[in-house]
This record gives sequence, C-alpha cells and structure tokens, in this order.
Amino acid sequence: MTTAAVPETTSDLPMYEVFGADGRILSEKLNEHRLKMFPPLALKQMRGFSTAEAARLIGVHDGYLRKLMGQEGAPQPETLPGGRKLYSLQVIQGIREYLSLGGNRQYVRHRAGPEHLQVLAVVNFKGGSGKTTTSAHLAQYLAMQGYRVLGVDLDPQASFSAMLGYQPEYDVQAGDSLYGAVQYVDEQRAMSEVIRRTYFPGLDMVPGSQELMEFEHETPKVLASGPAFGDYFFVRVANALSSVADDYDVVVMDCPPSLGYLTLSALCAATGIIVPVHPQMLDVLSMSQFLQTVSALMSVVGAGGAKVQYDFMRYLITRLEPQDGPQLQMMGFMRGLPDLADRVLKNPVLKSTAIADAQLTNQTLYEVERSQFNKATYDRALNSLNDANGEIEELIRKAWGRV
Ligand SMILES: Nc1ncnc2c1ncn2[C@@H]1O[C@H](COP(=O)(O)OP(=O)(O)OP(=O)(O)O)[C@@H](O)[C@H]1O
Ligand SMILES: [Mg+2]
Repeated sequence: MTTAAVPETTSDLPMYEVFGADGRILSEKLNEHRLKMFPPLALKQMRGFSTAEAARLIGVHDGYLRKLMGQEGAPQPETLPGGRKLYSLQVIQGIREYLSLGGNRQYVRHRAGPEHLQVLAVVNFKGGSGKTTTSAHLAQYLAMQGYRVLGVDLDPQASFSAMLGYQPEYDVQAGDSLYGAVQYVDEQRAMSEVIRRTYFPGLDMVPGSQELMEFEHETPKVLASGPAFGDYFFVRVANALSSVADDYDVVVMDCPPSLGYLTLSALCAATGIIVPVHPQMLDVLSMSQFLQTVSALMSVVGAGGAKVQYDFMRYLITRLEPQDGPQLQMMGFMRGLPDLADRVLKNPVLKSTAIADAQLTNQTLYEVERSQFNKATYDRALNSLNDANGEIEELIRKAWGRV
C-alpha cells in the first residue's frame, strides 16, 4: 500500500520558522476562543450557587439558611426571575462572617493564633500525573470552603494559570511570574506585586511563564560564584511567601514535571506535599525513581541548612478507572505496602469525561453547571473530587490542631 506524501511545509520556510509560525497561530486562535467563551474581555466569572449548595458550603441546613435570610443585616443572595435564589461566593463568605459575629469561629475558617500558613507542593516528576488538575481543584475547593488561598504556578507551561484565567503570552509580562520575586538581583519584585486577584473569590495567584526557566540557568552560575547574591536558592521561595503569609491560610503550588532548582526551593518552602499518581505500572515506577532522587537532593540541601520537615506527605491516586483491573491492582499494590499504605489518600480521584470536558474551556468541575452534564457522570466526579480534597482539608486542620 502506498501512502500519499505529506508536504513538510507549505512554503520554503526553514523548519524552525515553521515551528514559530505554528506556535503563534495556535496561541492567537486559542485566545480568540477564550474571547468567545468569556466575552467581552476574556475574563472568566465564577457561577452562583443554589440555596442547597450554599447551605452545604456554609455548613448549615437549607431551612436554617432560608430563615437566616429573613433577618435584617444578613447578606442577601440574588433573586432570579421566577424566585430562585443565587448565592455568589462573596455572599456565602459574607454569611459566614455574619454567623461569626458572636465570636463563633466555626464558620469563618481563617487561621488564627499559632496556626501556621499551610504551603502545599503538588509535585511529581511524571508528566501528566494530574498535578495541575489536582492543584486547580484543590485551590478552588479550599477557597469555596472559606480559606484564603494563594495559587502559585511554578511550571513554565503555565497550565494552572490558564485554568485560573491567565494566558501567559497575553496576560503575563516579564517579571510577573514567581521568578520576579526570587531572581538573583538586588532589586527583586516584592511578592505582593506578582500576586494577582482571580475571578474566583478567595483565590489569588502568581502566574507562571517561560521566564521561570531562568531560575534553572541562573542558579548554577550563582552557586559557582559564591554567596554574593544573598540567599541560597533553596530559601528563596520560602522567603518570598513569608512576606505575604498574613494574607493567606493555604498556598497551593503546582510544580513542573521536572526536578530543578525551583521545584527544590518549593519543596523547601512546603509544609505539606501531595504526590498525584496515576495507578499504572510505568507511572508508579517513575514515581519510585522520583522519590529516591528527591530524597537524595533534599538530604544535600538539608545538610546545607534547608528546612526539610513536613506536616504531612500523601499520595493521591488520580484518573482512576474503577472498572480497569490493572489500575485496581496497582492501587491495591500501593495500599498493600506496609509503611507506605498510610500515606495513600483513602479517596482516589476518578477519571471522568466531565473533568476532561470542563478543561476544554479551561474550567474545573467546580465552575461548570451541573445542568451541562449527564447528572450521574457529574455527581460521581464531583463526589470523588470533594472526598479527596476534603481529606486534604482534614490534614490541614490537623496540622493546625483543630481536629
Ligand atoms: N480525573 C480526571 N479525569 C479525566 N481527565 C483527567 C483527570 N485528571 C487529569 N485529566 C487529564 O489528564 C491530562 C493531564 O493532567 P494534568 O495536566 O493535570 O497533569 P500534570 O501532571 O499537571 O501534567 P504536566 O506534567 O504536563 O504538568 C489533562 O489532559 C487532564 O485534562
Ligand atoms: Mg501540569
């Protein structure tokens, strides 16, 4: 059988220029798509919540919430034509604060007193293990529960930023990523300057961009030239975060699929580590190598003075297909290993077309409307995300001594 020859290029351009041209076309068309999806400024907006959803988020019964809405001074939801109530996340947070006026801290979850900032690194060397999906859903879940959350995109691919509404080529300028606040210059940008609000109430972010790779190029030069440039690489992320610690309860850092200096610095800033892993042989094998490499590198930076103590470290099984025998076997294998088993989160995140479909428009499952999906599919995916994120929330609360 003969196959038709595919022309290598449509012009006489050298291949490297074709790469560049293809990149520009894709970026432009994707931006047009974004403008169409979220007009007029390509700005996303978080949806509103029904009374039942709002009551669940606040932690009260529907009836109690309805009664509360009759009280003067309580923040009010929007009333839609037809009488249905729609609660924005701002109104939900307002109701939590209203309920806390008497001094009951149960509803407003902000940390207080000795409770320290929780810095979570979502990390695994293996590409596509679910780091960005985990980071985006976890950050939004925690913000919806009423925590003040900062998302930090450490990946030059900047997918976490795209999910939170920022497309790097259009929205992120030089110095706007975390690199601006950790680079080896006398006048770094203040961390507060690289943080931006997102459309998602309670969730701020530091976007990623290609310039993050500079940290990988600059650090070895600085290491070779001695300690003239201030702090060592492994304390730079922690120092940047400590300057804004008072404004947040939890930081969620989406790491790149590589183990460079920036990832190491993030691991030294972390108080908790989440390792998402797809339960397949090659993924688990790759993770075993990743863990050993991390261990060796952390022992070196630990000897150099880095902090390497965590409140918790957990494996999160991602994209699980419960009808897939080999995946179940692999999950069973990890859960059957003494010592390690306790560090595997009980709730896996299921593979779901609802999660993948939502990502087609750079959205999480928390942002899309249930009515857009097959209800059983949506509910199954949402429950698995809520259960896994709820388990991580428990670990955070435990680290604060609340449970
Ligand atoms: N639970 C899920 N159900 C369906 N698809 C999923 C799920 N989790 C992740 N995916 C899909 O798997 C792919 C990889 O996920 P993701 O981008 O989160 O991985 P990653 O570890 O961040 O990748 P990278 O290493 O490139 O940063 C994405 O296309 C995502 O939409
Ligand atoms: Mg990613």
